[in-house]
Amino acid sequence: MSVRRLVVANWKMNKTAAETAEYLDIFLAQLPSLPSDVEIVLAPPFTSIARAASKIKGFGVRLGAQTMHWELRGAYTGEISAPMLLEFGVSHVILGHSERRAYCDETDRTVNLKVHTALQQGIVPIVAVGETLAQRRAGITDDHVVAQTKAAFDGVSAGALPGVVIAYEPIWAIGTGENCDPVEANRVMATIRSSLQGLDETPILYGGSMNTDNVGAYAAQPDINGGLIGGASLDPNGFAQLIRSAAVSP
Ligand code: 13P
Repeated sequence: MSVRRLVVANWKMNKTAAETAEYLDIFLAQLPSLPSDVEIVLAPPFTSIARAASKIKGFGVRLGAQTMHWELRGAYTGEISAPMLLEFGVSHVILGHSERRAYCDETDRTVNLKVHTALQQGIVPIVAVGETLAQRRAGITDDHVVAQTKAAFDGVSAGALPGVVIAYEPIWAIGTGENCDPVEANRVMATIRSSLQGLDETPILYGGSMNTDNVGAYAAQPDINGGLIGGASLDPNGFAQLIRSAAVSP
C-alpha cells in the first residue's frame, strides 16, 4: 500500500512576516522543479500565517500551524483557536511537539483534546512523539512512543486515522546534528504504525536533524513517509533541495 508523502517545515520561533515573504519569493519560484507527489506543508509562526497565506495562494503548498488551543473561543489569553487558523486556510497543525511538551506544559491529555478538535474542525493533526536520550538508554523508547501515540488518539476511531499524521522525533536528535540511524528510526516507526488499528495508511514522518544529505536514506525506508524539518527548512534554497532529495526513492 502506498502512503502519501509529506515534507513539513517547522520554522519554530523564526522569521518575521517580512522575512516570510522574502523566503516565499525564493521558495515558490522553485516549485516547478520540485516533485509533484510530495505534499509540502509550511508551518510558520502565527504572526507570519496571514502573509504566508496570501503568498502561497494558487501554488499547491499547504499551510500549517505549530500549535493551537482545543477550545474554539473563550478566555484563554494568548491562545489561538482552530477557526482563527481556518480563516487563513491553515490545513495542518503540529501538536505535542517535544518543545511544547517541555516548555509550554503540553501533555498527553491536552494533545488528545487538540487532536479531537482538529479532526472535528477539518484540520490535519501532525502529532509529534519521541523519546529522550535517558529513555533510549533505559531501553523504553518503544513503550514511550507507543504510549504517547495511544494517548494522543484516545477516542479517535480507526476510520479517522488515515487522516492524521504522526511525526517520530527522537528528542536527542532535534537540533543536535545527531540524526537517528534511518534503519532504527524505521523500526520505531513501524512499531508506532502497528500500535493502533487504522494506521496502515497514516503518513509517519521522521524529524530530528534531517537534512539534504541524509533525507534520501530516510525516504528509502518502508515505514518513513517524509519528514518534519526544523533547521534545514529555514533556508528556501536548501529546503527546496531537501524536498528534491526526499523524492528520489520509491
Ligand atoms: P531540526 O530539524 O532542527 O532538528 O528540528 C526538528 C524538529 O523539531 C521539527 O519539528
